Amino acid sequence: MNPNRYAVIGNPIAHSKSPVIHAAFAAQTGQTLTYEALLAPLDGFAATVAGFRAAGGRGCNVTVPFKLEAFALAERRSPRAQAAGAVNTLKFDAEGIYGDNTDGAGLVRDLTHNLDCPLAGRRILLLGAGGAARGVMLPLLSAAPARLTLANRTVSRAEALVAEFSAAAGSTPLTAGSFADLAGSQFDVVINATAASLADEAPPLPPGLYAPGALAYDMMYGRGDTPFLVAARGDGAARLADGLGMLVEQAAESFLLWRGVRPATAPVLAELRRQIEGA
Ligand code: ATR
Repeated sequence: MNPNRYAVIGNPIAHSKSPVIHAAFAAQTGQTLTYEALLAPLDGFAATVAGFRAAGGRGCNVTVPFKLEAFALAERRSPRAQAAGAVNTLKFDAEGIYGDNTDGAGLVRDLTHNLDCPLAGRRILLLGAGGAARGVMLPLLSAAPARLTLANRTVSRAEALVAEFSAAAGSTPLTAGSFADLAGSQFDVVINATAASLADEAPPLPPGLYAPGALAYDMMYGRGDTPFLVAARGDGAARLADGLGMLVEQAAESFLLWRGVRPATAPVLAELRRQIEGA
């Protein structure tokens, strides 16, 4: 039995890029491990994890729709997983099941390292108030922005997130509102954490949100620009980025947690980008 077995568990899972990413990390760092994609039945996440552990699994990534169940399954959790209310990385050791969430750190690292977009002192707009938005709140606040503004179709959800994270915000202004409320404001970084792109839609934003030099970032990715990025370009965003870098960076954070080694992400991201654009 391979003693260094890892996996990503989700439903669906066939199109996950995580096995390719982790295989590249392993080759690059000289680590001997396997990483597979496991499809869990919608009512069988815990059983799938238990089976994988029993077969020698050391850890796994968790994706849609199981991040909340992974949170519940973890016996110990990192502060960032606790804040996110969701877990995307499980590690199995003698002390049991440890849960972490590397999504937010992956986003911040993609912005600051890959895109050379420092967040400290910048005005950040976060669109959405679901699990994806919640998962990045603490890392974004930890980056000491000038302000963090949340906007969501359902305003009450954004307000609830702001209330929940007000202590973590400290002296950073943290506010919530509707998309229409944004009229007249300007931001340096606008991050789309809504699921609108899945429906091939862009959040209905008022014009003029992008300050000179501003970056529009969609946590989704795909071939070509998402509807949000197309709209951002039309509204004058100076720079556009999709979530492929976040995907690779969250994987690197997981790899670091499991293996104690941080892989170089740039070559893996470049190769993945080539594959997607050429697909
Ligand atoms: P996730 O875990 O991916 O964040 P979620 O918890 O269902 O999924 O949240 C989806 C987010 O996308 C929410 O902020 C949702 O807005 P509501 O809270 O008003 O439902 C947002 N969303 C989904 N479709 C959208 C659309 N077409 N336009 C704007 N926002 C959308």
